[in-house]
Amino acid sequence: MHLPESVRNLVLVGFMGSGKSSVGREIARRWGYRFIDTDTSIRRKYRKSIPDIFASFGEPLFRDEENQALQDLQNTHQAVIATGGGIVLQPRNHPLLRALGVVVWLTASQEVIWERVSRNQNRPLLRTRDPRTTISNLMSTRYPLYHSLADITVETSGLTHQEVADRAVAAIRLWPAAQHEDRR
Ligand code: S3P
Repeated sequence: MHLPESVRNLVLVGFMGSGKSSVGREIARRWGYRFIDTDTSIRRKYRKSIPDIFASFGEPLFRDEENQALQDLQNTHQAVIATGGGIVLQPRNHPLLRALGVVVWLTASQEVIWERVSRNQNRPLLRTRDPRTTISNLMSTRYPLYHSLADITVETSGLTHQEVADRAVAAIRLWPAAQHEDRR
């Protein structure tokens, strides 16, 4: 099973640590689709890590590059696309995300997000004195945005990447045919 002809790509959105890249890679493997990660495209373009890009050029440049990465994908088909957690912050990205295909939001509880993101240091926005409060504040701003964009929501807390992929694929299968038509 993969996406119906009328739906070009699968787009994963969600907070840092929600599993977009790992789950996206897994679904792409199952379907024989390309896997694309907007963070990776930006890292490759600058040949720098995300923290280095933030440190050298600042967040506004990174956000412009996220928008550019989405524009560059507008002719892409049959891909699973993982996005950075902040991609929803710019309203100009919303129509681009919708145009790409079915939008799947991976959610997780604050505790689970904390557990996952505290394992590594590659998220510049969480390099604060009190990262747990930062997470809570960022979540409050972003959850309504993910919610408004999502065609499908998958709760990932306590699940493996394979289990999340199973649920996402099952939800896409149940996604009403009428909605596939709407997304043409
Ligand atoms: C960000 C999330 C990161 C990366 C950058 C900014 C954010 O991606 O794009 O550090 O604003 O939430 P992940 O969601 O893959 O961690």
